[in-house]
Amino acid sequence: MMKRIFSGIQPSGTLTIGNYIGAMKQFVELQDEYDCFFCIVDQHAITVPQDRLKLRENTRSLAALYLAVGLDPEKITLFIQSEVPAHAQAGWILQCISHIGELERMTQFKDKSSGKESVSAGLLTYPPLMAADILLYNTNLVPVGDDQKQHLELTRDLAERFNKQYNDVLTVPEVRIPKVGARVMSLQDPKKKMSKSDSNQKAFISMLDEPKQIEKKIKSAVTDSDGIVRFNKEQKPGVSNLLSIESILSGNSIEDLEAKYEGKGYGEFKASVAEILVQTLEPVQKRYYELMKSEELDRILDEGAEKANKIAGRMLKKMENAMGLGRKKK
Ligand code: TYM
Repeated sequence: MMKRIFSGIQPSGTLTIGNYIGAMKQFVELQDEYDCFFCIVDQHAITVPQDRLKLRENTRSLAALYLAVGLDPEKITLFIQSEVPAHAQAGWILQCISHIGELERMTQFKDKSSGKESVSAGLLTYPPLMAADILLYNTNLVPVGDDQKQHLELTRDLAERFNKQYNDVLTVPEVRIPKVGARVMSLQDPKKKMSKSDSNQKAFISMLDEPKQIEKKIKSAVTDSDGIVRFNKEQKPGVSNLLSIESILSGNSIEDLEAKYEGKGYGEFKASVAEILVQTLEPVQKRYYELMKSEELDRILDEGAEKANKIAGRMLKKMENAMGLGRKKK
Protein backbone atom coordinates (compact mmCIF):
# COMPACT_ATOMS: atom_id res chain seq x y z
CA MET A 1 0.00 0.00 0.00
CA MET A 2 1.11 3.56 -0.71
CA LYS A 3 2.32 5.51 2.28
CA ARG A 4 0.22 8.48 3.27
CA ILE A 5 0.97 12.20 3.29
CA PHE A 6 -1.01 14.91 5.04
CA SER A 7 -0.39 18.64 4.95
CA GLY A 8 -2.38 21.83 5.43
CA ILE A 9 -2.29 25.51 4.58
CA GLN A 10 -4.24 28.32 6.24
CA PRO A 11 -6.59 30.38 4.06
CA SER A 12 -5.47 33.55 5.75
CA GLY A 13 -4.45 35.65 2.74
CA THR A 14 -2.89 35.21 -0.68
CA LEU A 15 -0.10 32.68 -0.52
CA THR A 16 3.50 33.79 -0.94
CA ILE A 17 6.36 32.16 -2.77
CA GLY A 18 7.44 31.04 0.72
CA ASN A 19 4.34 28.84 0.89
CA TYR A 20 5.01 27.66 -2.64
CA ILE A 21 8.67 26.81 -2.18
CA GLY A 22 8.40 25.47 1.38
CA ALA A 23 5.20 23.49 0.93
CA MET A 24 3.32 23.31 -2.38
CA LYS A 25 6.31 22.55 -4.58
CA GLN A 26 7.06 19.53 -2.37
CA PHE A 27 3.43 18.42 -2.59
CA VAL A 28 3.56 18.35 -6.37
CA GLU A 29 6.79 16.36 -6.36
CA LEU A 30 5.36 13.78 -3.94
CA GLN A 31 1.88 13.23 -5.37
CA ASP A 32 2.84 10.25 -7.53
CA GLU A 33 4.59 8.33 -4.78
CA TYR A 34 2.18 8.84 -1.89
CA ASP A 35 -1.51 8.79 -1.07
CA CYS A 36 -1.86 12.51 -0.40
CA PHE A 37 -4.38 14.46 1.67
CA PHE A 38 -4.19 18.24 1.43
CA CYS A 39 -6.32 20.43 3.62
CA ILE A 40 -7.47 24.03 3.67
CA VAL A 41 -7.31 24.60 7.40
CA ASP A 42 -9.96 27.25 7.91
CA GLN A 43 -10.43 26.35 11.58
CA HIS A 44 -6.79 27.20 12.16
CA ALA A 45 -7.29 30.56 10.46
CA ILE A 46 -9.94 31.67 12.98
CA THR A 47 -7.47 31.56 15.87
CA VAL A 48 -7.01 35.22 14.91
CA PRO A 49 -9.93 37.45 13.83
CA GLN A 50 -11.05 36.93 10.21
CA ASP A 51 -13.54 38.81 8.09
CA ARG A 52 -16.39 36.44 7.13
CA LEU A 53 -16.43 37.27 3.42
CA LYS A 54 -12.66 37.40 3.12
CA LEU A 55 -12.31 33.98 4.75
CA ARG A 56 -14.77 32.47 2.25
CA GLU A 57 -12.92 34.08 -0.62
CA ASN A 58 -9.51 32.99 0.66
CA THR A 59 -10.74 29.43 1.15
CA ARG A 60 -11.89 29.15 -2.44
CA SER A 61 -8.82 30.88 -3.73
CA LEU A 62 -6.56 28.48 -1.83
CA ALA A 63 -8.42 25.49 -3.27
CA ALA A 64 -7.82 26.86 -6.77
CA LEU A 65 -4.15 27.50 -6.03
CA TYR A 66 -3.59 23.96 -4.74
CA LEU A 67 -4.75 22.70 -8.14
CA ALA A 68 -3.16 25.46 -10.20
CA VAL A 69 0.35 24.52 -9.04
CA GLY A 70 -0.16 21.09 -10.57
CA LEU A 71 -1.79 18.88 -7.96
CA ASP A 72 -3.98 16.39 -9.76
CA PRO A 73 -7.42 15.85 -8.18
CA GLU A 74 -7.43 12.34 -9.65
CA LYS A 75 -4.43 11.50 -7.49
CA ILE A 76 -4.80 13.59 -4.34
CA THR A 77 -7.60 14.36 -1.89
CA LEU A 78 -8.30 18.06 -1.37
CA PHE A 79 -10.75 19.23 1.29
CA ILE A 80 -11.76 21.95 3.73
CA GLN A 81 -11.09 21.28 7.40
CA SER A 82 -14.40 22.61 8.75
CA GLU A 83 -16.28 20.24 6.42
CA VAL A 84 -14.80 17.26 8.27
CA PRO A 85 -16.01 17.59 11.88
CA ALA A 86 -13.77 14.78 13.17
CA HIS A 87 -10.85 17.25 13.12
CA ALA A 88 -12.34 19.46 15.82
CA GLN A 89 -13.51 16.41 17.78
CA ALA A 90 -10.10 14.72 17.73
CA GLY A 91 -8.55 18.13 18.39
CA TRP A 92 -10.48 18.28 21.65
CA ILE A 93 -9.28 14.82 22.67
CA LEU A 94 -5.68 15.77 21.95
CA GLN A 95 -6.07 19.04 23.87
CA CYS A 96 -7.00 16.94 26.86
CA ILE A 97 -3.72 15.06 26.74
CA SER A 98 -1.64 18.22 26.00
CA HIS A 99 0.04 20.12 28.80
CA ILE A 100 -0.44 23.88 29.00
CA GLY A 101 3.32 24.30 29.52
CA GLU A 102 4.28 22.55 26.30
CA LEU A 103 1.74 24.60 24.35
CA GLU A 104 3.07 27.83 25.86
CA ARG A 105 6.56 26.85 24.73
CA MET A 106 5.60 26.78 21.03
CA THR A 107 7.56 29.57 19.32
CA GLN A 108 4.67 30.35 16.98
CA PHE A 109 2.41 30.93 19.99
CA LYS A 110 5.07 33.10 21.64
CA ASP A 111 5.57 35.17 18.45
CA LYS A 112 1.87 35.64 17.75
CA SER A 113 0.93 36.47 21.35
CA SER A 114 3.91 38.62 22.36
CA GLY A 115 3.03 42.21 23.08
CA LYS A 116 -0.72 41.54 22.74
CA GLU A 117 -3.01 42.34 25.62
CA SER A 118 -5.30 39.44 24.89
CA VAL A 119 -5.18 36.53 22.45
CA SER A 120 -7.71 33.76 21.79
CA ALA A 121 -7.47 30.48 23.67
CA GLY A 122 -7.47 28.88 20.21
CA LEU A 123 -4.08 30.38 19.51
CA LEU A 124 -2.72 28.34 22.42
CA THR A 125 -4.61 25.14 21.57
CA TYR A 126 -3.81 25.34 17.86
CA PRO A 127 -1.08 22.62 17.90
CA PRO A 128 -3.32 19.80 19.21
CA LEU A 129 -5.80 20.64 16.42
CA MET A 130 -2.95 20.43 13.92
CA ALA A 131 -1.95 17.10 15.49
CA ALA A 132 -5.53 15.88 15.02
CA ASP A 133 -5.44 16.87 11.34
CA ILE A 134 -2.40 14.67 10.83
CA LEU A 135 -3.17 11.74 13.16
CA LEU A 136 -6.71 11.12 11.89
CA TYR A 137 -5.29 9.87 8.59
CA ASN A 138 -2.63 7.40 9.75
CA THR A 139 -0.19 9.82 8.18
CA ASN A 140 3.36 8.61 7.54
CA LEU A 141 4.88 11.83 6.23
CA VAL A 142 4.15 15.55 6.67
CA PRO A 143 5.82 17.90 4.15
CA VAL A 144 6.08 21.41 5.60
CA GLY A 145 8.39 24.41 5.81
CA ASP A 146 10.88 24.81 8.63
CA ASP A 147 8.53 26.95 10.78
CA GLN A 148 6.24 23.96 11.39
CA LYS A 149 8.97 21.66 12.72
CA GLN A 150 8.19 22.29 16.38
CA HIS A 151 4.47 21.61 15.83
CA LEU A 152 5.40 18.31 14.20
CA GLU A 153 7.57 17.33 17.16
CA LEU A 154 4.59 17.99 19.44
CA THR A 155 2.35 15.95 17.13
CA ARG A 156 4.72 13.01 17.48
CA ASP A 157 4.83 13.42 21.28
CA LEU A 158 1.02 13.53 21.48
CA ALA A 159 0.67 10.42 19.31
CA GLU A 160 3.14 8.51 21.47
CA ARG A 161 1.46 9.73 24.65
CA PHE A 162 -1.98 8.71 23.43
CA ASN A 163 -0.73 5.27 22.37
CA LYS A 164 0.91 4.71 25.75
CA GLN A 165 -2.00 5.96 27.86
CA TYR A 166 -4.78 4.26 25.91
CA ASN A 167 -4.28 1.92 23.03
CA ASP A 168 -1.81 1.75 20.20
CA VAL A 169 -4.06 3.34 17.58
CA LEU A 170 -2.13 6.33 16.22
CA THR A 171 0.65 6.30 13.61
CA VAL A 172 3.63 8.46 14.62
CA PRO A 173 4.39 10.60 11.54
CA GLU A 174 7.73 11.78 10.13
CA VAL A 175 8.34 15.36 9.03
CA ARG A 176 9.74 16.30 5.59
CA ILE A 177 11.45 19.65 5.23
CA PRO A 178 13.01 20.69 1.90
CA LYS A 179 16.83 20.95 1.78
CA VAL A 180 16.78 24.34 0.07
CA GLY A 181 13.97 26.83 0.59
CA ALA A 182 12.66 25.50 3.91
CA ARG A 183 12.63 29.07 5.14
CA VAL A 184 12.17 31.75 2.50
CA MET A 185 12.99 35.10 4.10
CA SER A 186 11.36 38.53 3.91
CA LEU A 187 12.63 40.66 1.02
CA GLN A 188 12.75 43.71 3.27
CA ASP A 189 14.19 42.13 6.43
CA PRO A 190 16.04 38.96 5.41
CA LYS A 191 16.49 37.91 9.06
CA LYS A 192 12.71 37.43 9.26
CA LYS A 193 10.55 34.74 7.64
CA MET A 194 8.56 35.74 4.55
CA SER A 195 4.93 35.84 5.67
CA LYS A 196 1.61 36.44 3.94
CA SER A 197 0.48 38.50 6.92
CA ASP A 198 3.39 40.97 6.73
CA SER A 199 2.03 44.54 6.73
CA ASN A 200 4.74 45.60 4.26
CA GLN A 201 3.66 44.39 0.80
CA LYS A 202 7.22 44.75 -0.47
CA ALA A 203 8.39 42.07 1.96
CA PHE A 204 6.80 39.19 0.05
CA ILE A 205 5.97 38.01 -3.46
CA SER A 206 2.41 36.82 -3.63
CA MET A 207 1.69 33.88 -5.91
CA LEU A 208 -0.75 36.15 -7.73
CA ASP A 209 1.58 39.14 -8.19
CA GLU A 210 1.87 40.41 -11.75
CA PRO A 211 5.24 40.42 -13.57
CA LYS A 212 5.68 44.19 -13.04
CA GLN A 213 5.08 43.89 -9.30
CA ILE A 214 7.50 40.98 -9.06
CA GLU A 215 10.23 42.90 -10.87
CA LYS A 216 9.70 45.93 -8.63
CA LYS A 217 9.71 43.95 -5.41
CA ILE A 218 12.85 42.01 -6.32
CA LYS A 219 14.58 45.21 -7.43
CA SER A 220 13.90 46.78 -4.03
CA ALA A 221 14.83 43.64 -2.08
CA VAL A 222 17.34 44.40 0.67
CA THR A 223 20.86 43.07 -0.05
CA ASP A 224 24.19 44.55 1.08
CA SER A 225 26.91 46.83 -0.27
CA ASP A 226 29.51 44.18 -1.25
CA GLY A 227 28.25 43.74 -4.78
CA ILE A 228 29.34 40.07 -4.69
CA VAL A 229 26.82 37.31 -5.35
CA ARG A 230 27.83 34.68 -2.81
CA PHE A 231 25.89 32.46 -0.42
CA ASN A 232 26.50 33.26 3.24
CA LYS A 233 23.39 33.22 5.41
CA GLU A 234 24.92 35.11 8.36
CA GLN A 235 26.88 37.78 6.53
CA LYS A 236 24.78 38.11 3.38
CA PRO A 237 21.23 37.11 4.32
CA GLY A 238 19.52 39.11 1.55
CA VAL A 239 21.68 37.81 -1.29
CA SER A 240 21.55 34.26 0.13
CA ASN A 241 17.76 34.37 0.22
CA LEU A 242 17.55 35.44 -3.43
CA LEU A 243 20.12 32.79 -4.39
CA SER A 244 18.04 30.11 -2.66
CA ILE A 245 14.93 31.25 -4.51
CA GLU A 246 16.65 31.15 -7.88
CA SER A 247 18.30 27.83 -7.10
CA ILE A 248 15.13 26.02 -6.13
CA LEU A 249 13.05 27.44 -8.97
CA SER A 250 15.65 26.96 -11.70
CA GLY A 251 17.05 23.65 -10.48
CA ASN A 252 20.62 25.03 -10.63
CA SER A 253 22.85 24.51 -7.61
CA ILE A 254 23.93 27.48 -5.48
CA GLU A 255 27.55 26.89 -6.61
CA ASP A 256 26.56 27.03 -10.27
CA LEU A 257 24.69 30.27 -9.65
CA GLU A 258 27.66 31.80 -7.80
CA ALA A 259 29.80 30.95 -10.83
CA LYS A 260 27.19 32.40 -13.19
CA TYR A 261 27.28 35.76 -11.39
CA GLU A 262 31.06 35.88 -10.90
CA GLY A 263 32.17 39.44 -11.61
CA LYS A 264 28.60 40.63 -12.19
CA GLY A 265 26.55 43.03 -10.10
CA TYR A 266 23.27 42.77 -8.23
CA GLY A 267 21.33 44.36 -11.10
CA GLU A 268 21.80 41.41 -13.41
CA PHE A 269 21.33 38.93 -10.55
CA LYS A 270 18.04 40.47 -9.46
CA ALA A 271 16.71 40.65 -13.01
CA SER A 272 17.35 36.95 -13.37
CA VAL A 273 15.67 36.10 -10.03
CA ALA A 274 12.62 38.13 -11.09
CA GLU A 275 12.57 36.36 -14.45
CA ILE A 276 12.51 32.85 -12.99
CA LEU A 277 9.75 33.92 -10.58
CA VAL A 278 7.63 35.28 -13.44
CA GLN A 279 8.27 32.12 -15.48
CA THR A 280 7.21 29.94 -12.55
CA LEU A 281 4.11 31.90 -11.60
CA GLU A 282 2.67 32.80 -15.01
CA PRO A 283 1.28 29.34 -15.87
CA VAL A 284 0.07 28.87 -12.28
CA GLN A 285 -1.85 32.15 -12.44
CA LYS A 286 -3.37 31.34 -15.81
CA ARG A 287 -4.72 28.03 -14.52
CA TYR A 288 -5.80 29.69 -11.27
CA TYR A 289 -8.07 32.22 -12.99
CA GLU A 290 -9.61 29.46 -15.13
CA LEU A 291 -10.32 27.33 -12.06
CA MET A 292 -11.86 30.23 -10.13
CA LYS A 293 -14.42 30.59 -12.90
CA SER A 294 -15.20 26.90 -13.24
CA GLU A 295 -17.56 24.66 -11.31
CA GLU A 296 -14.92 21.97 -11.15
CA LEU A 297 -13.69 23.33 -7.83
CA ASP A 298 -16.88 22.61 -5.88
CA ARG A 299 -17.09 19.10 -7.23
CA ILE A 300 -13.50 18.37 -6.22
CA LEU A 301 -14.02 19.79 -2.72
CA ASP A 302 -17.27 17.80 -2.26
CA GLU A 303 -15.56 14.58 -3.23
CA GLY A 304 -12.59 15.42 -1.04
CA ALA A 305 -14.78 16.07 2.01
CA GLU A 306 -16.65 12.81 1.48
CA LYS A 307 -13.50 10.74 1.32
CA ALA A 308 -11.86 12.57 4.24
CA ASN A 309 -14.98 12.19 6.40
CA LYS A 310 -14.92 8.42 5.95
CA ILE A 311 -11.29 7.98 6.91
CA ALA A 312 -11.25 10.57 9.69
CA GLY A 313 -14.55 9.33 11.13
CA ARG A 314 -13.19 5.82 11.40
CA MET A 315 -10.07 6.93 13.27
CA LEU A 316 -12.07 9.19 15.57
CA LYS A 317 -14.18 6.17 16.58
CA LYS A 318 -11.04 4.19 17.33
CA MET A 319 -9.74 7.01 19.52
CA GLU A 320 -13.07 7.34 21.34
CA ASN A 321 -13.29 3.61 21.91
CA ALA A 322 -9.75 3.52 23.25
CA MET A 323 -10.67 6.22 25.79
CA GLY A 324 -14.13 4.92 26.72
CA LEU A 325 -16.01 7.90 25.30
CA GLY A 326 -19.69 7.24 24.59
CA ARG A 327 -21.01 3.72 24.10
CA LYS A 328 -18.90 1.11 22.38
CA LYS A 329 -18.97 1.72 18.66
CA LYS A 330 -18.05 -0.61 15.88
P1 TYM B 1 0.85 28.14 6.99
O1 TYM B 1 -0.50 28.31 6.42
O2 TYM B 1 1.44 29.25 7.78
O3 TYM B 1 1.90 27.80 5.83
C1 TYM B 1 1.64 26.76 4.90
C2 TYM B 1 2.95 26.04 4.56
O4 TYM B 1 3.90 26.96 4.01
C3 TYM B 1 5.11 26.87 4.73
N1 TYM B 1 5.72 28.21 4.80
C4 TYM B 1 6.98 28.49 4.42
N2 TYM B 1 7.97 27.71 3.92
C5 TYM B 1 9.13 28.32 3.61
N3 TYM B 1 9.36 29.64 3.78
C6 TYM B 1 8.41 30.47 4.29
N4 TYM B 1 8.63 31.77 4.43
C7 TYM B 1 7.14 29.89 4.62
N5 TYM B 1 5.98 30.39 5.12
C8 TYM B 1 5.13 29.35 5.23
C9 TYM B 1 4.73 26.36 6.11
O5 TYM B 1 5.81 25.76 6.77
C10 TYM B 1 3.62 25.39 5.77
O6 TYM B 1 4.16 24.13 5.39
N6 TYM B 1 0.06 25.20 10.99
C11 TYM B 1 0.21 25.22 9.55
C12 TYM B 1 -0.99 24.67 8.81
C13 TYM B 1 -1.41 23.30 9.23
C14 TYM B 1 -0.76 22.08 8.91
C15 TYM B 1 -1.59 21.06 9.47
C16 TYM B 1 0.40 21.74 8.22
C17 TYM B 1 -2.52 23.01 9.95
N7 TYM B 1 -2.65 21.65 10.11
C18 TYM B 1 -1.23 19.72 9.36
C19 TYM B 1 0.74 20.40 8.11
C20 TYM B 1 -0.08 19.39 8.68
C21 TYM B 1 0.40 26.68 9.08
O7 TYM B 1 0.03 27.59 9.75
O8 TYM B 1 0.93 26.79 7.83
